[in-house]
Amino acid sequence: MADRTHTLGLLLGTEEDWPSAFEALVRRLDPALRSGGDTHRYDVERITIEPFDLRQPSRYSLVVDRLAYWYYVPREWLKKVALLDEVYLLNNPFTFQSMEKHAAYCAMIRLGLKVPETWLVPYKQPPDNPRFPYTAAKYNRPFDLREVAGRVGYPLWMKPYDGGAWVGVSRIRDEQDLQRAYDESGQRLMHLQESIEGFDVFARSLSIGAETMVMRFSPDRPQHDRYSVSHEFLDPTTGDEVVTIGKVVNAFFKWEFNSCETLVRGSQVHPIDYANACPDVSLTSLHYYFPWAMTSLVKWSLFCTAVGRKPRVDLDTRRWYDVADAGGSYEDRLGAYRRMADEYFETERYAEFVATQLGDLEAVAHDYFSSADFDRLLVETVQSTFPAHEHEQFVAHYRGLLGAWVADAARAR
Ligand SMILES: Nc1ncnc2c1ncn2[C@@H]1O[C@H](COP(=O)(O)OP(=O)(O)OP(=O)(O)O)[C@@H](O)[C@H]1O
Ligand SMILES: [Mg+2]
Repeated sequence: MADRTHTLGLLLGTEEDWPSAFEALVRRLDPALRSGGDTHRYDVERITIEPFDLRQPSRYSLVVDRLAYWYYVPREWLKKVALLDEVYLLNNPFTFQSMEKHAAYCAMIRLGLKVPETWLVPYKQPPDNPRFPYTAAKYNRPFDLREVAGRVGYPLWMKPYDGGAWVGVSRIRDEQDLQRAYDESGQRLMHLQESIEGFDVFARSLSIGAETMVMRFSPDRPQHDRYSVSHEFLDPTTGDEVVTIGKVVNAFFKWEFNSCETLVRGSQVHPIDYANACPDVSLTSLHYYFPWAMTSLVKWSLFCTAVGRKPRVDLDTRRWYDVADAGGSYEDRLGAYRRMADEYFETERYAEFVATQLGDLEAVAHDYFSSADFDRLLVETVQSTFPAHEHEQFVAHYRGLLGAWVADAARAR
């Protein structure tokens, strides 16, 4: 029986809120977990950026990344530690880089999910490449954008094939809108996508490892007000379908920290945006759900490292496609995908691990989220997010929401 200390690394950009909460929870819990005959203990560290020898072994057991999406030094470091050191990364860095929204649409259409009708159209402005004019003259077929839009049907959405943060997204009502948005798209490669009109619920599910939280979302509200605290806004069958879709996307791409957006209209669930690896988990957007996200991140990180879960950077698309091709109803296939996803996430083993080894975490979380320490973090976060004249209002707003979580958590215990 040996003592092993795991260092959990955080790769961060500008955020202070969730890393501070994550660090506080791990330190307060001070885990000593028994697995495989060893006792596993934990440190948390913020990773710094510096030159690295490709052969230098990594000190980290697991890394939570929120930076590599746009900063290439850590991005390449992540690939090195994934391939050379088998550090546990919450998202497969290879699919994360290569599978943007477009690839995710293609894969989920292949699995038979109800992705709205989507077309990709060539650039408005050609790429800046001296070979382009020759290639285009020879091979580009002239096309009528209006005809493509006509096939998709109005209203539709024009949005970048690899988009995020609502950049370049437009709702197109007619040919005039269409031409204007296309002219403005410049060198951005665009999709035209059928609009799911008159949907009943916009559900955003945040998945962290084996856990998924489905939240009611209003994308056009200001940041502090997008998630509403609302339970049972979907009937149980639809709610379960939304959870399944998120888990299937994640198990397929080996993403363990991702969000998935679905539009629910009647009994139909349409996934529209689900390649958001390392999603926003800030206190000011998640508010009431922030403690859930932080405790889930702690639980999954401890589980993966203590049981020695092996990170995966491959895709086993064939297994999924075999199910897609086996026939059966949509519900049958979804059921089979869900079993594969639960198998990938080791859902049962995880639940047992949490129940037997992390029994103290609930109490630790309850104490922390009602502590003066956390309140300080909340106030600092509000001060660094909102203009001065809004501080008082938003401190009260977030205290109310986090207080509601604390009260609900106490009732549930
Ligand atoms: N097919 C669709 N039907 C109805 N609404 C849509 C559709 N596609 C996009 N939208 C609307 O446009 C918004 C932005 O689209 P999308 O999420 O695909 O872009 P994004 O750039 O990834 O945005 P974000 O980063 O905010 O999620 C959605 O939140 C939704 O309100
Ligand atoms: Mg979106």
